[in-house]
Formats: sequence, structure tokens, C-alpha cells
Amino acid sequence: MPRAEAFPHIAVRATDIRKRYGGVVALNGVSLTVAEGEVFGIIGPNGAGKSTLFDILCGITRPTSGRVEVLGQDVGQMSPHLAARHGVGRTFQRTAVFGEGTVRENLLYGRHIGFRHSVIGRIFQSETYRTERRAFDEKAEDVLTLCGLQDERDRTANVLAYGVQRRLAIAVALMSDPKILFLDEPAAGMNGRETADFISLVEAIAPGRTVVIVEHDMTVIKALCGRALVVVDGRPVTIDAPGQVFRHPEVISAYLGADDE
Ligand SMILES: Nc1ncnc2c1ncn2[C@@H]1O[C@H](COP(=O)(O)OP(=O)(O)OP(=O)(O)O)[C@@H](O)[C@H]1O
Ligand SMILES: [Mg+2]
Repeated sequence: MPRAEAFPHIAVRATDIRKRYGGVVALNGVSLTVAEGEVFGIIGPNGAGKSTLFDILCGITRPTSGRVEVLGQDVGQMSPHLAARHGVGRTFQRTAVFGEGTVRENLLYGRHIGFRHSVIGRIFQSETYRTERRAFDEKAEDVLTLCGLQDERDRTANVLAYGVQRRLAIAVALMSDPKILFLDEPAAGMNGRETADFISLVEAIAPGRTVVIVEHDMTVIKALCGRALVVVDGRPVTIDAPGQVFRHPEVISAYLGADDE
């Protein structure tokens, strides 16, 4: 298996990805590469296969055929814990914050992959536990500040405004210091102000990382992405600058034909 050192400039390499769900062909031959440091968009009408592709790229779902390497490793062989240790962070289309927990408790969940102390060590406040706890506190404060959540740290997640919950989901992902961040419709359901805040947040966290964003909101894609892939009916139609993709006749007809766009 090629190692990251072999492709220092490639963060994601997907080759001929196909996915079937019974009789449904969700993806029909998608290939792409994302360079390290790139903010890459994935767009397409509802049901086009974006989330399926997203889940395959970040290792949640196995493709029926094809291969995905993220940071030089085959994601098919990575458990979620391994993926996090390997530098892969992700947030999903359906917000997955722990609603009953406080903002800080959610961050602790994001960090727990980095905790190696045992329960016994915790009870006796071992040196390892104290060191990890200190590292968590420092990291949590940095992430809270970066994500504009300082004043929310002790609030229960499910009382937060929707846009704030979505920022919390990103904050949780940032707790494991991801080198690559996958975001599936991060701005869905946000109002204009929340979307603008979200764009600023991604601009702040993108330097030094690779970001892959699935998003319907073209304001977000245009503001953040150098290139975007358009998926229509499970097929890649074009990969181009966001300002250019709607010049493509097949993209225009796919969007005109979609009743809910
Ligand atoms: N687990 C599944 N079982 C069966 N069919 C599925 C499954 N997941 C996705 N599909 C089908 O695969 C196709 C692509 O779905 P997918 O969720 O990837 O689209 P999408 O582009 O993310 O849509 P949206 O814009 O609504 O988020 C759809 O026809 C969908 O019904
Ligand atoms: Mg989706």
C-alpha cells in the first residue's frame, strides 16, 4: 500500500468508485484527486450521490468497487478510531452532537480518541490522566475560541441555535487535530448570518489542512472552494472552479430538471 510519503501532495485519491444499493446505482464510476491544502467542493442535485461519495471518501461506507486513499492510506482498512488517529475529521449531514451534553462534554467526546489513561488511572488521578486532562483543557479552550463558542462552553448542546450546533460539530472534529476535514452539508439550515460566520470559520481553520465540503449553498462553495466536483445521477460531470461549473450544459440541465433545487 503506498504511504503518504509517496504522494506528499495528494490528500485524497479516489479511483473509479462505484456503489450499488440493491438495484439502485448510487455511484457509477467517480474518480478524483484532492491536493493537500485544497478546499474541495462536491455539489449536485438531491439524490445525486454526494453523501454516498462523502461516506466512502471518509471511510464510513465501503464502495462496491474502486479504491480510496486518504493521506496515503487505504480508507477501506481504517476503523473510525484509526481514521481519527490518522488525521481524518468529519461532520455529517444530519447533525450529530450529543444533545444532552454540554459543549465541553461534546469536545471531550471529540478528544477521547486521544485519551489513553485507564479508569483506574483516572480514579487515582495518575500522572498520565493529569497530563491528558491538561492537554484537553488547553485544546478545548483553543477550539472554543476558534469556533466562537467561548460563551457557550457550559450550555447544553440541544438548547443551542441550530447554526451554533453545527459549529459545535466542527469543533468536536477539530479536537483530534485533523489534517483533513470532511464536511457534509455543514451550512444546511443556516440563516444568512450563520452562513457568513460559518464561511469565516472554515477560512480560519483551512490553512494547513485539506477540506472536502459537500454543500448545496453555492455561496459557501464559491467563497471557499478552489474546485468543485459536480455529481449528477452518480456520475462525475465536471471538476472545475465553482464559478465555471454552471457553464457546463449537463450541469445546467441537471439543475433545471431537479424540481427541488
Ligand atoms: N443506505 C441506502 N440504501 C439504499 N439506497 C440508498 C442508501 N443511501 C443512499 N441511497 C440512494 O442512493 C442515491 C444517492 O443518495 P445520496 O444520499 O448519496 O444523495 P445526496 O446527493 O447526498 O442527496 P441529498 O442532496 O439529498 O443529500 C439515492 O438514490 C438514495 O436513495
Ligand atoms: Mg446528502
